[in-house]
Amino acid sequence: MYRLLFDLVLRRLDPEQAHAWSFALIRGVSDVPGLRWLVGRVLGGPPTGALTLWGRRWPSRLGLAAGFDKDGHGVLGMTMLGFGFVEVGTVTAQPQPGNEPPRLWRVLDQQALRNRMGFNNEGSAVVAERLRRLRATRRGRAAVIGVNIGKSRVTPVEHAATDYATSAGRLAPYADYLVVNVSSPNTPGLRDLQAVDALRPVLEATRVAADEATVRAGRGPCPLLVKIAPDLSDDDVDAVAELVAELGLDGVVAVNTTIAHDLGPGGLSGPPLLSRGLDVVARLRDRLGPEAVIIGVGGISTPADARGYLAVGATLVQAYTGLIYRGPFFAARISRALGVDASRSRTEV
Ligand code: FNR
Repeated sequence: MYRLLFDLVLRRLDPEQAHAWSFALIRGVSDVPGLRWLVGRVLGGPPTGALTLWGRRWPSRLGLAAGFDKDGHGVLGMTMLGFGFVEVGTVTAQPQPGNEPPRLWRVLDQQALRNRMGFNNEGSAVVAERLRRLRATRRGRAAVIGVNIGKSRVTPVEHAATDYATSAGRLAPYADYLVVNVSSPNTPGLRDLQAVDALRPVLEATRVAADEATVRAGRGPCPLLVKIAPDLSDDDVDAVAELVAELGLDGVVAVNTTIAHDLGPGGLSGPPLLSRGLDVVARLRDRLGPEAVIIGVGGISTPADARGYLAVGATLVQAYTGLIYRGPFFAARISRALGVDASRSRTEV
Protein backbone atom coordinates (compact mmCIF):
# COMPACT_ATOMS: atom_id res chain seq x y z
CA MET A 1 0.00 0.00 0.00
CA TYR A 2 2.72 2.49 1.02
CA ARG A 3 4.89 1.13 -1.80
CA LEU A 4 2.13 2.13 -4.23
CA LEU A 5 1.68 5.57 -2.63
CA PHE A 6 5.44 6.05 -2.73
CA ASP A 7 5.76 5.02 -6.39
CA LEU A 8 2.70 6.90 -7.63
CA VAL A 9 2.84 10.07 -5.53
CA LEU A 10 5.65 10.62 -3.06
CA ARG A 11 8.61 9.90 -5.32
CA ARG A 12 7.26 12.39 -7.86
CA LEU A 13 7.30 15.16 -5.26
CA ASP A 14 10.35 17.18 -4.33
CA PRO A 15 11.85 15.18 -1.41
CA GLU A 16 11.90 18.13 0.97
CA GLN A 17 8.28 18.98 0.12
CA ALA A 18 7.25 15.36 0.63
CA HIS A 19 8.93 15.40 4.04
CA ALA A 20 7.22 18.65 5.04
CA TRP A 21 3.76 17.40 4.02
CA SER A 22 4.08 13.95 5.56
CA PHE A 23 5.45 15.40 8.79
CA ALA A 24 2.61 17.96 8.96
CA LEU A 25 0.09 15.15 8.43
CA ILE A 26 1.63 13.03 11.21
CA ARG A 27 1.61 16.01 13.60
CA GLY A 28 -1.95 16.92 12.66
CA VAL A 29 -3.21 13.39 13.30
CA SER A 30 -1.39 13.13 16.62
CA ASP A 31 -3.00 16.39 17.82
CA VAL A 32 -6.51 14.91 17.51
CA PRO A 33 -7.13 12.39 20.35
CA GLY A 34 -9.61 10.20 18.41
CA LEU A 35 -7.36 9.96 15.36
CA ARG A 36 -4.31 9.34 17.52
CA TRP A 37 -6.11 6.46 19.21
CA LEU A 38 -7.18 5.06 15.86
CA VAL A 39 -3.67 5.20 14.42
CA GLY A 40 -2.36 3.54 17.58
CA ARG A 41 -4.87 0.69 17.10
CA VAL A 42 -4.09 0.29 13.40
CA LEU A 43 -0.38 0.14 14.17
CA GLY A 44 -0.96 -2.53 16.81
CA GLY A 45 -0.79 -0.51 20.03
CA PRO A 46 2.15 1.15 21.75
CA PRO A 47 5.50 -0.65 21.79
CA THR A 48 6.01 -3.03 24.70
CA GLY A 49 9.72 -3.80 24.70
CA ALA A 50 10.34 -1.70 27.75
CA LEU A 51 13.85 -0.93 28.90
CA THR A 52 14.94 1.15 31.88
CA LEU A 53 17.85 3.46 31.22
CA TRP A 54 19.03 6.64 32.93
CA GLY A 55 16.11 6.37 35.34
CA ARG A 56 13.50 6.37 32.59
CA ARG A 57 11.31 3.79 30.95
CA TRP A 58 11.96 3.51 27.19
CA PRO A 59 8.99 1.90 25.41
CA SER A 60 11.21 0.61 22.60
CA ARG A 61 14.89 0.42 21.74
CA LEU A 62 14.15 1.96 18.32
CA GLY A 63 14.30 5.75 18.11
CA LEU A 64 13.95 8.36 15.39
CA ALA A 65 17.41 9.57 14.30
CA ALA A 66 18.36 13.25 14.33
CA GLY A 67 17.51 15.38 11.32
CA PHE A 68 13.87 14.40 10.84
CA ASP A 69 12.45 16.62 13.60
CA LYS A 70 15.05 19.35 13.69
CA ASP A 71 13.01 21.82 15.73
CA GLY A 72 11.11 19.52 18.09
CA HIS A 73 7.73 20.09 16.45
CA GLY A 74 6.65 16.49 16.14
CA VAL A 75 7.88 14.41 19.05
CA LEU A 76 4.41 13.13 19.97
CA GLY A 77 3.55 12.38 16.35
CA MET A 78 6.65 10.26 15.94
CA THR A 79 6.11 8.32 19.20
CA MET A 80 2.55 7.70 17.95
CA LEU A 81 4.12 5.90 14.97
CA GLY A 82 5.95 3.48 17.27
CA PHE A 83 9.32 5.10 17.89
CA GLY A 84 10.39 4.60 21.50
CA PHE A 85 12.29 7.88 21.56
CA VAL A 86 12.96 10.87 19.35
CA GLU A 87 16.26 12.66 18.85
CA VAL A 88 15.42 16.28 18.10
CA GLY A 89 17.92 18.42 16.13
CA THR A 90 20.53 19.16 15.07
CA VAL A 91 19.94 22.42 16.94
CA THR A 92 22.53 25.21 16.80
CA ALA A 93 23.03 28.21 19.11
CA GLN A 94 22.03 30.63 16.33
CA PRO A 95 18.93 30.12 14.17
CA GLN A 96 19.98 29.44 10.56
CA PRO A 97 18.32 28.67 7.22
CA GLY A 98 20.70 25.89 6.13
CA ASN A 99 22.00 25.51 2.59
CA GLU A 100 20.17 26.67 -0.51
CA PRO A 101 17.83 24.05 -2.02
CA PRO A 102 18.06 21.64 -3.68
CA ARG A 103 19.65 19.92 -0.69
CA LEU A 104 17.90 16.57 -0.36
CA TRP A 105 17.86 13.82 -3.00
CA ARG A 106 16.51 10.29 -3.23
CA VAL A 107 18.89 7.59 -4.44
CA LEU A 108 16.16 5.19 -5.49
CA ASP A 109 18.25 2.25 -6.64
CA GLN A 110 19.87 1.99 -3.20
CA GLN A 111 16.80 3.04 -1.16
CA ALA A 112 19.10 5.76 0.14
CA LEU A 113 19.02 9.52 0.62
CA ARG A 114 21.67 12.13 0.02
CA ASN A 115 21.47 15.44 1.85
CA ARG A 116 23.36 18.67 2.28
CA MET A 117 20.78 20.37 4.50
CA GLY A 118 23.36 22.34 6.53
CA PHE A 119 21.61 22.38 9.93
CA ASN A 120 18.51 24.39 9.02
CA ASN A 121 16.88 25.04 12.41
CA GLU A 122 15.23 27.68 14.55
CA GLY A 123 18.08 27.91 17.05
CA SER A 124 18.44 26.55 20.57
CA ALA A 125 16.54 29.35 22.35
CA VAL A 126 13.36 28.73 20.33
CA VAL A 127 13.64 24.93 20.45
CA ALA A 128 14.28 25.02 24.22
CA GLU A 129 11.13 27.06 24.75
CA ARG A 130 9.14 24.60 22.58
CA LEU A 131 10.45 21.64 24.61
CA ARG A 132 9.74 23.47 27.87
CA ARG A 133 6.10 23.79 26.82
CA LEU A 134 6.00 20.16 25.73
CA ARG A 135 7.43 18.99 29.06
CA ALA A 136 4.70 20.95 30.86
CA THR A 137 2.16 18.44 29.47
CA ARG A 138 1.62 14.87 30.69
CA ARG A 139 2.26 13.33 27.28
CA GLY A 140 5.29 15.52 26.79
CA ARG A 141 6.81 14.36 30.06
CA ALA A 142 6.16 10.72 29.14
CA ALA A 143 8.08 11.01 25.85
CA VAL A 144 11.76 10.08 25.80
CA ILE A 145 13.54 12.93 24.02
CA GLY A 146 17.19 13.26 23.04
CA VAL A 147 18.51 16.57 21.76
CA ASN A 148 21.32 16.72 19.23
CA ILE A 149 23.38 19.93 19.14
CA GLY A 150 25.75 21.28 16.50
CA LYS A 151 27.90 24.31 15.73
CA SER A 152 26.30 27.40 14.20
CA ARG A 153 27.67 28.06 10.74
CA VAL A 154 28.70 31.65 11.60
CA THR A 155 30.77 30.54 14.60
CA PRO A 156 34.43 29.95 13.77
CA VAL A 157 35.68 26.47 14.63
CA GLU A 158 38.00 27.98 17.33
CA HIS A 159 34.89 29.14 19.20
CA ALA A 160 32.97 25.90 18.75
CA ALA A 161 33.10 24.99 22.47
CA THR A 162 31.21 28.14 23.49
CA ASP A 163 28.63 27.61 20.76
CA TYR A 164 27.90 24.02 21.85
CA ALA A 165 27.89 25.07 25.52
CA THR A 166 25.29 27.78 24.82
CA SER A 167 22.91 25.26 23.30
CA ALA A 168 23.62 22.66 25.99
CA GLY A 169 22.77 25.16 28.73
CA ARG A 170 19.46 25.99 27.06
CA LEU A 171 18.39 22.46 26.15
CA ALA A 172 19.73 20.11 28.85
CA PRO A 173 16.86 20.81 31.30
CA TYR A 174 14.36 19.35 28.80
CA ALA A 175 16.41 16.50 27.33
CA ASP A 176 16.70 12.87 28.42
CA TYR A 177 20.10 12.90 26.76
CA LEU A 178 22.23 15.32 24.74
CA VAL A 179 24.28 14.46 21.67
CA VAL A 180 27.28 16.51 20.57
CA ASN A 181 27.19 16.22 16.80
CA VAL A 182 30.64 16.63 15.27
CA SER A 183 30.00 14.43 12.27
CA SER A 184 27.63 16.09 9.81
CA PRO A 185 29.37 16.70 6.49
CA ASN A 186 27.48 19.88 5.61
CA THR A 187 28.98 22.46 7.99
CA PRO A 188 32.51 23.41 6.90
CA GLY A 189 35.14 22.31 9.44
CA LEU A 190 32.66 20.49 11.70
CA ARG A 191 34.06 17.02 11.20
CA ASP A 192 37.57 18.23 12.12
CA LEU A 193 36.17 18.50 15.65
CA GLN A 194 36.25 14.69 15.79
CA ALA A 195 40.04 14.87 16.28
CA VAL A 196 40.43 14.30 20.00
CA ASP A 197 42.45 17.48 20.69
CA ALA A 198 39.65 19.55 19.17
CA LEU A 199 36.89 17.41 20.63
CA ARG A 200 38.06 17.45 24.26
CA PRO A 201 37.35 21.17 24.94
CA VAL A 202 33.99 20.95 23.15
CA LEU A 203 32.86 18.01 25.28
CA GLU A 204 34.21 19.54 28.49
CA ALA A 205 32.47 22.88 27.93
CA THR A 206 29.25 21.15 26.95
CA ARG A 207 29.38 18.94 30.05
CA VAL A 208 29.90 21.95 32.37
CA ALA A 209 27.11 24.00 30.76
CA ALA A 210 24.66 21.09 30.80
CA ASP A 211 25.44 20.30 34.46
CA GLU A 212 25.01 23.92 35.54
CA ALA A 213 21.68 24.12 33.74
CA THR A 214 20.27 20.89 35.16
CA VAL A 215 21.36 21.85 38.69
CA ARG A 216 19.55 25.19 38.23
CA ALA A 217 16.49 23.28 37.00
CA GLY A 218 16.63 21.01 40.05
CA ARG A 219 17.14 17.77 38.17
CA GLY A 220 19.91 15.21 37.86
CA PRO A 221 22.69 15.42 35.25
CA CYS A 222 21.74 15.03 31.59
CA PRO A 223 23.52 12.08 29.90
CA LEU A 224 25.97 13.25 27.23
CA LEU A 225 26.93 11.36 24.06
CA VAL A 226 28.96 12.18 20.97
CA LYS A 227 27.91 11.33 17.40
CA ILE A 228 30.56 10.19 14.97
CA ALA A 229 30.95 9.67 11.23
CA PRO A 230 31.30 6.30 9.49
CA ASP A 231 34.24 7.76 7.58
CA LEU A 232 36.56 7.86 10.62
CA SER A 233 39.41 5.37 10.42
CA ASP A 234 39.38 2.55 12.97
CA ASP A 235 42.20 4.29 14.83
CA ASP A 236 40.16 7.48 15.04
CA VAL A 237 37.15 5.54 16.33
CA ASP A 238 39.41 4.09 19.03
CA ALA A 239 40.71 7.57 19.90
CA VAL A 240 37.17 8.88 20.33
CA ALA A 241 36.31 5.87 22.49
CA GLU A 242 39.33 6.56 24.69
CA LEU A 243 38.30 10.18 25.10
CA VAL A 244 34.72 9.19 25.94
CA ALA A 245 36.05 6.87 28.65
CA GLU A 246 38.54 9.46 29.91
CA LEU A 247 35.89 12.17 30.26
CA GLY A 248 33.32 9.78 31.71
CA LEU A 249 30.83 10.50 28.93
CA ASP A 250 27.71 8.36 28.77
CA GLY A 251 28.15 7.01 25.26
CA VAL A 252 28.37 7.34 21.49
CA VAL A 253 25.90 7.59 18.61
CA ALA A 254 27.28 5.80 15.55
CA VAL A 255 26.97 6.62 12.68
CA ASN A 256 26.15 9.80 10.78
CA THR A 257 25.89 10.01 6.97
CA THR A 258 28.89 9.13 4.81
CA ILE A 259 30.78 11.21 2.27
CA ALA A 260 32.31 8.06 0.76
CA HIS A 261 30.28 8.10 -2.45
CA ASP A 262 30.44 9.73 -5.88
CA LEU A 263 26.83 10.86 -6.26
CA GLY A 264 27.42 14.57 -5.69
CA PRO A 265 27.64 16.82 -2.64
CA GLY A 266 26.29 15.85 0.77
CA GLY A 267 26.07 12.83 3.03
CA LEU A 268 24.56 9.49 2.05
CA SER A 269 22.20 7.61 4.40
CA GLY A 270 20.32 4.32 4.29
CA PRO A 271 21.42 0.76 3.36
CA PRO A 272 24.91 1.72 2.08
CA LEU A 273 25.76 2.61 5.72
CA LEU A 274 24.75 -0.65 7.33
CA SER A 275 27.95 -2.64 7.11
CA ARG A 276 30.26 0.15 8.32
CA GLY A 277 27.75 1.14 11.01
CA LEU A 278 27.80 -2.40 12.41
CA ASP A 279 31.62 -2.47 12.38
CA VAL A 280 31.88 0.86 14.20
CA VAL A 281 29.36 -0.17 16.86
CA ALA A 282 31.14 -3.50 17.42
CA ARG A 283 34.46 -1.69 17.74
CA LEU A 284 33.05 0.86 20.17
CA ARG A 285 31.51 -1.86 22.35
CA ASP A 286 34.81 -3.67 22.45
CA ARG A 287 36.72 -0.51 23.42
CA LEU A 288 34.17 1.02 25.81
CA GLY A 289 33.15 -2.05 27.83
CA PRO A 290 29.66 -3.07 28.85
CA GLU A 291 28.53 0.09 30.70
CA ALA A 292 28.60 2.71 27.92
CA VAL A 293 25.43 3.43 25.98
CA ILE A 294 25.92 2.96 22.24
CA ILE A 295 23.19 4.07 19.86
CA GLY A 296 23.53 2.21 16.56
CA VAL A 297 22.22 4.03 13.49
CA GLY A 298 22.72 3.69 9.76
CA GLY A 299 20.86 1.62 7.21
CA ILE A 300 18.19 0.04 9.38
CA SER A 301 15.30 -1.01 7.10
CA THR A 302 14.06 -4.22 8.74
CA PRO A 303 13.80 -5.86 12.18
CA ALA A 304 16.78 -8.01 11.19
CA ASP A 305 18.92 -4.91 10.62
CA ALA A 306 17.97 -3.54 14.06
CA ARG A 307 18.70 -6.93 15.65
CA GLY A 308 22.07 -6.89 13.90
CA TYR A 309 23.03 -3.67 15.67
CA LEU A 310 21.85 -5.00 19.04
CA ALA A 311 23.78 -8.24 18.44
CA VAL A 312 27.08 -6.39 17.96
CA GLY A 313 26.58 -4.34 21.11
CA ALA A 314 24.21 -1.43 20.51
CA THR A 315 22.08 -0.49 23.53
CA LEU A 316 19.57 1.37 21.38
CA VAL A 317 19.06 1.84 17.64
CA GLN A 318 17.76 4.65 15.46
CA ALA A 319 16.57 5.09 11.91
CA TYR A 320 15.61 7.84 9.47
CA THR A 321 15.92 6.74 5.83
CA GLY A 322 14.10 3.43 6.42
CA LEU A 323 11.02 5.39 7.46
CA ILE A 324 11.00 7.30 4.16
CA TYR A 325 11.15 4.15 2.04
CA ARG A 326 9.09 1.82 4.24
CA GLY A 327 6.34 4.17 5.39
CA PRO A 328 4.19 4.71 8.46
CA PHE A 329 4.22 1.07 9.67
CA PHE A 330 8.02 1.02 9.73
CA ALA A 331 8.69 1.97 13.37
CA ALA A 332 5.82 -0.01 14.88
CA ARG A 333 6.90 -3.11 12.96
CA ILE A 334 10.49 -2.95 14.20
CA SER A 335 9.52 -1.94 17.75
CA ARG A 336 7.09 -4.84 17.94
CA ALA A 337 9.74 -7.31 16.73
CA LEU A 338 12.27 -6.04 19.28
CA GLY A 339 9.59 -6.15 22.00
CA VAL A 340 8.86 -9.79 21.21
CA ASP A 341 12.60 -10.56 21.43
CA ALA A 342 12.79 -8.80 24.80
CA SER A 343 9.85 -10.62 26.33
CA ARG A 344 11.16 -13.95 25.00
CA SER A 345 14.56 -13.38 26.58
CA ARG A 346 12.85 -12.38 29.87
CA THR A 347 10.95 -15.66 29.94
CA GLU A 348 14.09 -17.61 29.08
CA VAL A 349 16.04 -16.12 32.03
C1 FNR B 1 20.32 13.35 8.71
N1 FNR B 1 21.15 13.03 9.77
C2 FNR B 1 21.43 13.97 10.73
N2 FNR B 1 22.21 13.65 11.79
C3 FNR B 1 22.48 14.56 12.76
O1 FNR B 1 23.18 14.24 13.72
N3 FNR B 1 21.96 15.83 12.65
C4 FNR B 1 21.19 16.21 11.61
O2 FNR B 1 20.73 17.35 11.57
C5 FNR B 1 20.92 15.27 10.59
N4 FNR B 1 20.17 15.62 9.50
C6 FNR B 1 19.84 14.67 8.57
C7 FNR B 1 19.03 15.02 7.51
C8 FNR B 1 18.66 14.05 6.58
C9 FNR B 1 17.77 14.44 5.43
C10 FNR B 1 19.11 12.71 6.73
C11 FNR B 1 18.71 11.64 5.74
C12 FNR B 1 19.93 12.38 7.77
C13 FNR B 1 21.75 11.67 9.90
C14 FNR B 1 20.84 10.69 10.61
O3 FNR B 1 20.56 11.08 11.92
C15 FNR B 1 21.47 9.29 10.63
O4 FNR B 1 22.66 9.33 11.39
C16 FNR B 1 21.79 8.78 9.23
O5 FNR B 1 20.82 9.19 8.30
C17 FNR B 1 21.91 7.27 9.19
O6 FNR B 1 20.67 6.66 9.52
P1 FNR B 1 19.65 6.09 8.39
O7 FNR B 1 19.07 7.28 7.73
O8 FNR B 1 20.47 5.26 7.46
O9 FNR B 1 18.64 5.31 9.17
